[in-house]
Amino acid sequence: MSIVYLNGEFLPIEKASVSPLDRGFLFADGVYEVIPAYHRRLFRVREHLNRLDHSLRGIRLASPMNHDDLSVVLAELVHGNPGNNQSVYLQITRGVAPRDHAFPVNCQPTVFAMSTPLPDSDGGAGGAGVSAITLEDIRWLHCDLKTIALLPNILLRQQAIDADAAEAILIRNGEVTEGAASNVFCVTAGTVVTPAKGPRLLPGITRDLIVELAAAHRIPCREDTVTVATLRSADEIWLTSSTREILPVTTLDGVQVGNGRPGPIWSEIFRLFQEFKRELAAGTQQL
Ligand code: PDD
Repeated sequence: MSIVYLNGEFLPIEKASVSPLDRGFLFADGVYEVIPAYHRRLFRVREHLNRLDHSLRGIRLASPMNHDDLSVVLAELVHGNPGNNQSVYLQITRGVAPRDHAFPVNCQPTVFAMSTPLPDSDGGAGGAGVSAITLEDIRWLHCDLKTIALLPNILLRQQAIDADAAEAILIRNGEVTEGAASNVFCVTAGTVVTPAKGPRLLPGITRDLIVELAAAHRIPCREDTVTVATLRSADEIWLTSSTREILPVTTLDGVQVGNGRPGPIWSEIFRLFQEFKRELAAGTQQL
């Protein structure tokens, strides 16, 4: 049975309930984070909570809990749920109030968190990579905020699934932004490139770690504009997220990427990422 956290209480998920007047339910008026835990230790929790603050500021919602209190809740949740590796979901909405577009006065935000087991990442399809399709980015212009208003992302991901692909890579004005629920990396002639941060994409925590690992191991890596032409001619394409880690894309819009197999730079970064996780488990790496 899974234990969740709701407004100050830990309880079985079956016992947890939220009012239908919650603004998360009526308006998608809230933000969230997905934080992996490896060997029961939260991964990059400080970075995730800093991004949560950025999202809260972006929707003008004062944080109802400080980082220390949130970290204690999340750690306790990981402790109380099954799985050595877990994916922790944290959501904060503006709370329960009579339906009105205007912000309610004196409303207590709803804080909810749950955790599910996280399977080991193997590079997709047992290491063979995944397919992706390109789609027009139909979302708003505050994609740097991790809000629970995910209908465009859902429709885009489903379009990918309907085309037997694992992800939709989104294009705005001829430039790659990100995936429906992931960031995008390309490799061209040995150099890794990922779209520069800004309002058109989520500043992924996995993305930032890969940029750090590349710098630390002298793998050429740039944060820059990625055109559709760059994407289509790339030797390697990767998707990154807290739940999928680093997935090589071996088919794009039905066309083979590079030689159709996960590339050598993906293998190296994947290895460095797994090593980083192991060091974390051994306590030799900073969270
Ligand atoms: N999503 N871009 C979007 C639109 C995302 O939804 C996500 C992750 C990412 C990758 O960010 P990170 O590396 O911090 O997980 C990029 C999570 C996993 C989700 O919505 O379930």
